This record gives sequence, C-alpha cells and structure tokens, in this order.
Amino acid sequence: MTGEYDRAFRESVSEPERFWGDAAAKVQWYRTCDRVLNCENPPFFRWFEGGEVNSCYNALDYHVGNGLKDHTALIYDSPVTKTIKKYTYGELRDLVAYCAGGLRRTGIRKGDRVVIYMPMIPEAVIAMLACARIGAVHSVVFGGFAARELAARIEDARPRLVISASCGIEVNRIIAYMPLLESALGLCSHKPSACVIVQRPEMNAVFPDSNYISWDALMDAEPAECVPLAATDPLYLLYTSGTTGKPKGVLRDNGGHLVALMWSMKNIYDVRPGEVFWAASDIGWVVGHSYIVYGPLFYGCTSILYEGKSIGTPDPGAFWRVIDEHKVAVLFCAPTAFRAIRKEDPKGEYIRKYDLTKFRMLFLAGERCDPDTLLWAEQQLGVPVIDHWWQTETGWAIGADCAGLELLPVKPGSCTKPVPGYDIRVLDAQGNELPPGKTGNVVIRSPLPPGCFTTLWENDKDFINTYFSAYPGYYLTSDAGYIDTDGYLWIMGRTDDIINIAGHRLSTGAMEEVLSSHPDVAECAVAGVRDPVKGEVPLGFVVLKAGVTKDQEAIASELIALVRQKIGPIASFKAAAVVKRLPKTRSGKILRGTIKKIADGVPCQVPATIDDPLILDEITDTLHGLGYPRQ
Ligand code: COA
Ligand code: AMP
Repeated sequence: MTGEYDRAFRESVSEPERFWGDAAAKVQWYRTCDRVLNCENPPFFRWFEGGEVNSCYNALDYHVGNGLKDHTALIYDSPVTKTIKKYTYGELRDLVAYCAGGLRRTGIRKGDRVVIYMPMIPEAVIAMLACARIGAVHSVVFGGFAARELAARIEDARPRLVISASCGIEVNRIIAYMPLLESALGLCSHKPSACVIVQRPEMNAVFPDSNYISWDALMDAEPAECVPLAATDPLYLLYTSGTTGKPKGVLRDNGGHLVALMWSMKNIYDVRPGEVFWAASDIGWVVGHSYIVYGPLFYGCTSILYEGKSIGTPDPGAFWRVIDEHKVAVLFCAPTAFRAIRKEDPKGEYIRKYDLTKFRMLFLAGERCDPDTLLWAEQQLGVPVIDHWWQTETGWAIGADCAGLELLPVKPGSCTKPVPGYDIRVLDAQGNELPPGKTGNVVIRSPLPPGCFTTLWENDKDFINTYFSAYPGYYLTSDAGYIDTDGYLWIMGRTDDIINIAGHRLSTGAMEEVLSSHPDVAECAVAGVRDPVKGEVPLGFVVLKAGVTKDQEAIASELIALVRQKIGPIASFKAAAVVKRLPKTRSGKILRGTIKKIADGVPCQVPATIDDPLILDEITDTLHGLGYPRQ
C-alpha cells in the first residue's frame, strides 16, 4: 500500500478548500471562483462561489477543440432494437447544439425546468446536455414509472417543456409512452407549454394537439452556444423516493458536480481519457446521470448507453458481448445484474466465450453486494470487484475502494473506506460516536463535499428537517452500518422505509398509500423481503374492511394491478395477501420488521411489545402459502 488514500483522505477533511481547489484546476472555467467553500449559512454550503462554468462545454466542446473531435463519445447499444450507433464528440456536440437552439426557440430560458421522460435512447442524453448548454434545469423521470409518479414530478418541478418518446421497449413488449404522458398531464394542474416527442420506428405516436411537436422539428433550429453559468446555478433536479408518497427533488449545482465527477473518474474508477466506461444503469437514476452522461464525458471517455437487460435470451452473455465488442475498461452496475447472470450461467461458461482482455475493473452499487456474489464475480472475471456506496443525494460514491489512489484489499460485504471528502461517523440515538464494530446511524460531518445536493427543490425546510436536524452538524444518511477496526465501512441497510429492488430505490410507504386507496382495504403493511435476484422485493399484507366478502385472491390481484398502475412495473409488487390482523405493538405500531424477518427466515424473537403473539402464526402460515419456507 502506498498511503496515497490516507494522505488524500486526511487532506480532504482537514483542508477541504485546498483539496477541492486543486481538483477544480482540472475543470475548464470561464471564471475561476472567488471562494472554494462558503460555510456561512449551514447546512447550505456553497462550493466554488464566483466561478463561472458550463457543464456541457466541459462534456463536449472542450474535447472537440482539444483533440477528441473524432473520438467516440457515446455508443448506443440496444439489443432490444438490434441497433449499435456511435457518436463522436464532434457529432454529439453538434446534435446537442441544435437541440439547445430548438429549446431556445420554444422559449426555454436559463433556470426553466425541462422534464425528460424517455427510454434509453441517445436523444435523452442529447436533451440533458442541451439543457445544460443553455442553463435550463433538466429533471429526468425514469421511464418505468407510471403516470401518477410522472404527474407528481411534473406538478412539483413545473416544467416549461416535457420531452418524451413514442415508446419504450422492454425486451419483448413495447410500452406506449403517449397514454402515460397524457394521463400524467391530465392529473396535473401545471401545464407545460409544449411536449416534444421522439418518434421511434417501433411505434408512431399520434399528437393530440398542436402543443405536441416532434423531435425532428425541435432539432430544425439554429445551433446554440454554451452559456457561462454560476458554479452554484442548478444543473439538474432529480426526484428520489422519500419516506412519504411525495418524491424529493434533489437539486445539484454545476460547479461542485463537475469538479467531483472529474475527480472521481480518475481517483475512484481509475480510468484514462479515451477509455470506454460503461455504467449499466438508466438515465432515470442518479448513476445514469453521473456515469452514463456527465462523468465519462467530462473526462473524455467513451460512454455506453445500453438499452437492454443484463441477461439476454437465449444468451446470458449479454454483458460480456458489450464489453468485448466495445472494449470496455470499467463496468459499473448493480449487484442484481450479477445475481441474474449467475443464476443463468453459474459456471461462467458464457463469460469465457468473449474476449475480456481490455476489461480492468467492476464496480457495484445500488444495494449491498452479498459477499457470495462479489466473490463469484471476482473469480469468474479475474478483475477487482469493488462494491461502493452511494445515494441520489450525494451524486457520487461516499464509500469506495479508490482504485486510482491505491487499490486497498477488498473485504467482501464492505464498501471499503470513506471516499475523500466524506467525514463519516457512526452515532447512537443520543448522538454518541460508536466504537469500531458497533452498528449505528451512519452520518457525514458537514460540509458535504462538492457534487452533493445543495438543497431540495423549493423546499429548504425539508432539506434541513430530513437530513440535518437529527444530529446538528451532520448529514443523516438513513443508512445503518459500522466502521471496523481497520477503518472499513459496512453499510447494512436503511433505517427508514426505503427498499432497494434490483438496485432501484422505492418507498414501501408509497406502496402502502396505494394499497390503502383500495376501497376494500382497512389497513395494510408493506415490507421489503429478501429475493435471490432482485435483493429485495415488496410484500403486502392487508386487512379488509368489515363486511367485505369478496374473494381474497381477487383482491390480492387487484392490489398488485393497482401498485403497477399507480407506481409502475418497476416496483415489482407481485405478492399481496389478506390477513385478519396485522402484528402490532401495544401502542399500535405495525411490526413490519418482524414480518420481514419471518419472510427472510431470520430467527426473530417475538417482540415483547407485541399486542397479540398469536397473530404471527397467521402471518407465518400466509407467507408459507405464498411460497416462503416455514422456519
Ligand atoms: N419502462 C417500463 N417498464 C420497465 C422499465 C422501463 N424503463 N424498466 C423496467 N421495467 C419493468 C420491467 O419490464 C419489469 O416488468 P414486469 O414486472 O412486467 O416483468 C419490471 O419493470 C421490473 O423491472 P426490473 O427490476 O428491471 O426486473 P426484470 O425482471 O425485468 O430484470 C434484471 C431484472 C436484474 C435482469 C434487470 O434489472 C437488470 O438487468 N439490472 C441490471 C441493471 C442495473 O444495474 N440496474 C440498477 C440501476 S443502478
Ligand atoms: P439511491 O439513492 O437510489 O442511489 O439509493 C441509495 C441507497 O441505496 C443507500 O442509502 C443505501 O441504502 C443503498 N446502497 C447503495 N449502494 C450501496 C452499497 N454499495 N452498499 C449498501 N447499500 C447501498
């Protein structure tokens, strides 16, 4: 070990201004900042105040003028449409400039919000960068969300424009977007002034009125140049699940984000400009923002936009084909992808069919990677496999093995060590720091490093209440975990109602709201239970209103359909059961944790506070009926 990690970490927490000031020198500024860090109004820390910058310029124009004009910036690889299309930095810059010109012509100005509800197609990336080019704030909504979720985001962000597509493609089915979009707009009191639609060859959308324009019409414009923006101006708004049904609008600035992602490409992922970096995520999630779009392009890499799943049929070697064909150096995906691959190809036979000699490292995030999957991946691929910990709020890794600084020994199940910039502590309920090995609330001492969210969209109050009020001076991650005697970080699970389903963040509280809206349901509980591929899946229990005599299986099917319709297929809500009562404490609190433990087969003592221990027998029987083994 070289000690490089320790040196960088120490400097980042003891002299953050010097550390991040040095990192900022790698960025192209119109004007350098007056002040690296402004701590005058905690927890509203401001990075690089006075600096002027443009994220799109750093992602494209700078490289076009500096030798990478003909280098591939983006590879669109879409097994679902059997398409591979490559864009050089020069081509992508030109397309983005036309799109930015089109946005201007439709009246989009700096600070206006643009909602992007799109599948994984190049136009989505072009639209994001075009917003960044003229200072509009994009808000990408994941294509697997249903109309109601889209509506909630449109209502909160109040966009001037929505950009969408005629359809998405999910392996073997085409999903028409127009009905979803129209139904969402019908639910909103806010009306965007126009909707732009990319017509995909697989399905043509019929525009209901003149407020809809085609992507081609948008692109038929004078190209627009990058505009200088304040480093503290917002780049994007991204909604994420909170503990209520109302999603939280995470707001990210331009300057801090740019500096942090540039730093991470070299120091965490250890890639070199020109190499191929593949984040197998979706642009609707934070990983897609940071490492499909911005990070790799800021750093002059080739990024892959992959429209497909981790396993193809009949070929479970879908990922290896991409790595081989495009010479991927670093892959970033969720552990669920590897559990799915391993299930189909336990001996790794398909891995050996491909040439992976350029492949150097695998990074996993989105949920804790079980040591078994990590070791399997390491053994099969013969490259370092690094689990690293993230949140939408931070926008980049909090805990990782920073391979570009020095590769520390991997401890499977841990996220290695705090990334420079993140001063992590583990506290008990009273705010006392816990000794090594003791599990508690994982918090980060303020200020958060550059790149982390600066507030919640038009909601400073919830920003403070949700994240900075439990322990003054610390950001509450809502993750539980511990630091071991070697300083390794172990993130074991959420302390709130968020669950991670196939690496996607969803709230069980939001699902309970949907179940409660069913006319026959008196009360309900949703717990995240263990799943061999997706990590966790939701499981719903409902108690019916008195006098309801309807068939219970029919009600369960209605509930499953309701969650799919209101939240979306991505919730993977596929199991619901009717029970006579829910297990509760004597004070009326539903024991969701106990339901989860029974379903997971984890030995659990009957909580002393339970009002009626016999009810657990009914829950156990019901779970058994749903296919969960009896313990
Ligand atoms: N639009 C519409 N529907 C979508 C969608 C989208 N953009 N994305 C997913 N869905 C649907 C799926 O079709 C599926 O519907 P179904 O219930 O009718 O089958 C449902 O939402 C759940 O999707 P998903 O969680 O992706 O499960 P899956 O069974 O289709 O695939 C994996 C499982 C593991 C193969 C897949 O999730 C995968 O390849 N993951 C790796 C990618 C990754 O790393 N993601 C994490 C982001 S950091
Ligand atoms: P998201 O905001 O969707 O990125 O989800 C963030 C949450 O996912 C975190 O708060 C963790 O609970 C979980 N998570 C992400 N990466 C990891 C990881 N490597 N190990 C453990 N949990 C993780």
